[in-house]
Amino acid sequence: VTGEDGRADRRAGPGGSGLDLHLDLAKATGGVGWALEMALREAVRSGRLAAGARLPGSRSLAADLGLSRGTVVQVYAQLSAEGWLVGSPGSGTSVADRSVRPRQDAGERQALPTSGREPERRALDGRPPESVGGRQVDLRPGRPDLSSFPRTAWASSVRRAVSAADANVFDYGELAGVPALRAVVADYVSRTRGAQVTADSVVITAGFSQGLALLARMFHRLGVRHVAIEDPCLDRHRVLLRAAGLRADPLRVDADGADPAGLDGRAGAILLTPAHQHPQGSVLAPGRRTAFVEWARRHDAYVIEDDYDGEFRYDRRPVGALQALAPDRVIFGGTTGKALAPGTRMGWLVVPPALHEPLLEAAEEIAAAVPVIDQLALADLIARGDYDRHIRRLRLVYGRRRTELARRLAAVTTTPLEGISAGLHALLPVGSADLEHQLITAGERAGLRLHGLHASGYWQAPAGRPAALILGYATPPPHTWRRSLDLLTELIATEARHTRPR
Ligand SMILES: Cc1ncc(COP(=O)(O)O)c(C=O)c1O
Repeated sequence: VTGEDGRADRRAGPGGSGLDLHLDLAKATGGVGWALEMALREAVRSGRLAAGARLPGSRSLAADLGLSRGTVVQVYAQLSAEGWLVGSPGSGTSVADRSVRPRQDAGERQALPTSGREPERRALDGRPPESVGGRQVDLRPGRPDLSSFPRTAWASSVRRAVSAADANVFDYGELAGVPALRAVVADYVSRTRGAQVTADSVVITAGFSQGLALLARMFHRLGVRHVAIEDPCLDRHRVLLRAAGLRADPLRVDADGADPAGLDGRAGAILLTPAHQHPQGSVLAPGRRTAFVEWARRHDAYVIEDDYDGEFRYDRRPVGALQALAPDRVIFGGTTGKALAPGTRMGWLVVPPALHEPLLEAAEEIAAAVPVIDQLALADLIARGDYDRHIRRLRLVYGRRRTELARRLAAVTTTPLEGISAGLHALLPVGSADLEHQLITAGERAGLRLHGLHASGYWQAPAGRPAALILGYATPPPHTWRRSLDLLTELIATEARHTRPR
């Protein structure tokens, strides 16, 4: 094995830690820590490292591989957070018992559970799309800074892609998407999110929303009637599920993410935001990641992993895709909505082989397709590294904004922001749904647009549930960022003055 520094052998051998990882550091384009992480993940997945197997101490493995101990510690921590390893003080790190084995009959569609009941029909809520224009400043969540859209790079990608494309590309395209984009996305998602992806498993969609609508339609065709969904969550997702004739069954969420204890056996699919619960901001705990996947296997169901902002984590590398734990049971969904802009309307699903055809059938029924020119441009943008560069730049900007938001709020309230240091939003808990409503109304009058857990329909069962403002700190363009902070802190300070006991 050749190391990136040209040294002959960095394989961990029996003389030291005793762990043979077949780790080829020469191919470690993402860095040696990344390569070690991938190698360990693969060793667990393939069974080379069995459940319960003790891993060498970080010091000894680091010495074997010629890495710093900190790198190994970080890799162990990352894989523990993802549910591959378990560590406890004093007894070291070992391979987690996932009890997750692929089943032979994973491809049998008809085995999906049905409730036997007719689907509940409900009206779509029909809320009009909200304008982000006007003179108000905007701290609503769900959008990046639209003014940061990489116009020059995008325009170059369109020009290059259109000039170079073979004429056949302009025909009705493949429903699954342009092959060049599917290949680039497969590489991107495995590289950045640690998912198990081949180009064949990728379906390009018009954003995650369309992907979810297609999945809902597909699951309904397969006999599913219930989908478990986090409560709170984006109301639009419940609406999309119901529009396809599915019941959206609420799953409780706490500081460890969605709680699998609430699953009742009827759900044919479970919609989760594992890397960053939307909107509460927790990460799905390692034990729960495993529990959801096991549940899906036992009930012949599927997990839909909504990775809407997985690119943005500020305190560490994001937790890897849940999909990697069970590529035959988890559908991974990504979007360009946060990394570029929602108006690009592009996203991708990574689909288990058994669902590939059913999904395309659902897409064909409603002629769901994504314009090929946009797909070619996105393929070019990602392949050239411009997409990654753009995300790296914005990660710095948004990470700084989050810190500044927390600092400014700390000056006017003792209530800390909630949610991990990730994504494009954070929560500021407030005392009640009434107060949330008052703050949003007062903000509106002062020229500040805000969202709240209650006021913006995130709760499915709102009675007695906590209230909070959901602060989309990425949304304001740079020239309104300071003003947004000033208006927000003034609003909170005024509220604190009114409610302070006399
Ligand atoms: C939880 C969640 N999932 C997914 C999305 C992305 O949706 P789309 O790609 O359709 O814009 C969003 C965007 O707001 C979101 O908040």
